[in-house]
Amino acid sequence: MPILHHLESADLPVVSTCDGWTIHEYPSVASTNLVAAGLPAWTAVRANSQTAGRGRFQRTWVSDLGGLWLSAVVPTARNTNARRTLPLAAGLAICNSLRELGVSGLRLRWPNDVLVKDQKLAGLLIDQFSPDVAVVGIGLNVANQPETCDPALRNRTTRLADLLPSQPELMTLTALVLRNVQKVLTDLDLSGAAALFSRVNALWAGPRMVELDLDGTLARGLFTGVDETGRLVLSDSEGKITYYDAHQVRHLTEI
Ligand code: BTN
Repeated sequence: MPILHHLESADLPVVSTCDGWTIHEYPSVASTNLVAAGLPAWTAVRANSQTAGRGRFQRTWVSDLGGLWLSAVVPTARNTNARRTLPLAAGLAICNSLRELGVSGLRLRWPNDVLVKDQKLAGLLIDQFSPDVAVVGIGLNVANQPETCDPALRNRTTRLADLLPSQPELMTLTALVLRNVQKVLTDLDLSGAAALFSRVNALWAGPRMVELDLDGTLARGLFTGVDETGRLVLSDSEGKITYYDAHQVRHLTEI
């Protein structure tokens, strides 16, 4: 991957280290996930803004000044089922970070949108560009202005600036999030995936009626969390339970 093509300019990053991470900071890039694509595990890329921030399902992700736009490169080799565990582990790490800051009312929307009530505070995009590492892309609204950039986001997003008496510095947030990502992955190695799934199940804030887009066909039912192997559990009106692997579900809408 020609990494420099994803940079806005020939700016070299400011490089620092923190708790075992090497952090590359840029004023502006196209997408931090793409810049991180060729970097080794335990490297992170942060940019003040992104000109082509990427969301899930090929959506664009508004990434104006003031938000945390961060990509963390993590190893996958030890984790045989990273595709199933990593999205959920990453959501847990962000919730743990935000709780440490004193944010209340947090919840997850499957697989890893972080919400306060029904407003989105953070989104995650996991890319795997090579077999041994994955890129965990984290977009966290801090003091940016998502609604100003895209009026369609009105009332659909929230920001740390709206939730806390004062918002932390972006570099403080970066260190906090990276420490929690590393901790959750260490816990996953030590305690196994079932322990991770049970911690994540506490974050959905109750069963919810949902509609699943199964790449064309739709399924409605009560979402009750993930099972001990990480599959999404859906219960229909007759109580019949169906299990879905993450890759089978293109999109989940709460209804
Ligand atoms: C989503 O909810 O759709 C996922 C959004 C992920 C956005 C982050 S910002 C940092 C990283 N770089 C990107 O281009 N996207 C992710």
